[in-house]
Amino acid sequence: MAVLVTGGAGYIGSHTVIQLLNSNEDVIIVDDLSNSSIKVIDRIEELSGKRPKFYEINILEENKFKKIFEENEIESIIHFAGFKAVGESVNKPLAYYTNNLVSTLIILNTMKEYNVKNFVFSSSATVYGDPKSCPILEDFPLSTTNPYGTTKLMIENILRDICKTDKKLNVGILRYFNPVGAHKSGRIGEEPNGIPNNLMPYITKVAIGKLEKLSIFGDDYATHDGTGVRDYIHVEDLAAGHLKTLTKLRNNSGLVTYNLGTGKGYSVLDMVKAFSKACGKEIPYSIVGRRAGDIAMCYADSNKAKKELGWEAKYDLDRMCEDSWRWQSNNPNGYED
Ligand code: UD1
Repeated sequence: MAVLVTGGAGYIGSHTVIQLLNSNEDVIIVDDLSNSSIKVIDRIEELSGKRPKFYEINILEENKFKKIFEENEIESIIHFAGFKAVGESVNKPLAYYTNNLVSTLIILNTMKEYNVKNFVFSSSATVYGDPKSCPILEDFPLSTTNPYGTTKLMIENILRDICKTDKKLNVGILRYFNPVGAHKSGRIGEEPNGIPNNLMPYITKVAIGKLEKLSIFGDDYATHDGTGVRDYIHVEDLAAGHLKTLTKLRNNSGLVTYNLGTGKGYSVLDMVKAFSKACGKEIPYSIVGRRAGDIAMCYADSNKAKKELGWEAKYDLDRMCEDSWRWQSNNPNGYED
């Protein structure tokens, strides 16, 4: 009986796969490598001592995807695969709706056909829109500001609807806050295509000398230093949340929804300072105007996950920065030689 991990060669997926393998789970990865590298599979083997079965398939190729279920006994699915760039989603909404929604529908229909009952979905704090207050609880109102976020919310809604009619289905909706950090070995980490949109990969590229300086998007927010505040969480903590969720689903939980964050908010300037300490260099920056669609503050109340899953984030900000830096400095060109 195997756990099928879609997007298992990606940033969060690969860290989760290693933890699954270390917990003696049988893991199958499906990934089209559109935003990841085949080398990740080698490094997963190097770090875990086991090579997961790997299918290089785009889920939209439905017949090929279904064949995985013919060839293997799939017990649970963790669904990471999806387009995830906010700005790109505004320019290519149809591509985002098609890829993220249709692939999820194909998975859900295939699960039905092959009687697979456990499904973990990568959602995002983006579904809280501009929250009325922080920390954010799971029952806060949901809204979105861009097509990427809308695909996350639409999939959540689909999952809620199907769980109403299929009482045997167990679904974990995990709302990630801001994932950063990397495996302690420095062998796998985040490697976005092109110029990074997100703060941490941007800072690491400045530190390694690939980008000249960081632009800080606004210093006039109502936060302790005027720059945006977020809940940065170590990718290893995030990965651990998936394993705990899987255990919960296997006990017939029905639909469950959890915030995965640390509950602590750090500003952009806090991040620059912490990262400078980790890499031993100044991070040059300048303050520019606000980025459209950004909010002042976003951090989680993760007590529900603590209470119901026995999960809690363990790594602090210094460790997040040290691990991000180890990955970047050991692999200045990411997975390319
Ligand atoms: C973004 C997405 C969110 C998505 C998440 C995935 C937006 C509006 N939101 O969250 O939907 O789920 O990534 O990780 O894009 N910053 C700078 N300079 C930079 C980059 C970022 O000052 O070059 C600031 C931002 O203004 C923000 C903070 O850093 O205050 C974090 O930004 P980012 O890493 O892009 O994450 P979010 O915007 O929180």
